[in-house]
Amino acid sequence: MDPHRIARVQAWFRSVILMSDPIAHRFCDRLFHLYPEAQEMFAEDLSAQRTKLFQTLTVAEAGLGHGDDLLPAARDLGRRHARDRVGERH
Ligand code: HEM
Repeated sequence: MDPHRIARVQAWFRSVILMSDPIAHRFCDRLFHLYPEAQEMFAEDLSAQRTKLFQTLTVAEAGLGHGDDLLPAARDLGRRHARDRVGERH
């Protein structure tokens, strides 16, 4: 990503971070609407999961522009998801 685009993504992210909870709700609602089978992969109480989602996105946002530093952690996260039966369609 070029520096101008990174700056725009980071500015956008910082402007929505205060709305992280409703956005995370929306993310889960949409995921379960599109892929109802995904719901049973999660605990009933999704509050901790919503927090983890945004914590991870915050780390990713902060890492933009630092080359490939994030790749090992992103690959690990992907592997853990695949182990939890998360597929490409999700
Ligand atoms: C922006 C995209 C996503 C991010 C940043 C993200 C991040 C995370 C994180 C940080 C965890 C905690 C466990 C760990 O670190 O391994 C987790 C767990 C999990 N994620 Fe994701 N996730 C994303 C998308 C998805 C999608 C699309 C699915 C599809 C079903 C999914 C399914 C799961 C499941 C099943 C767990 C385990 C839940 C549990 O143990 O109760 N994730 N995710």
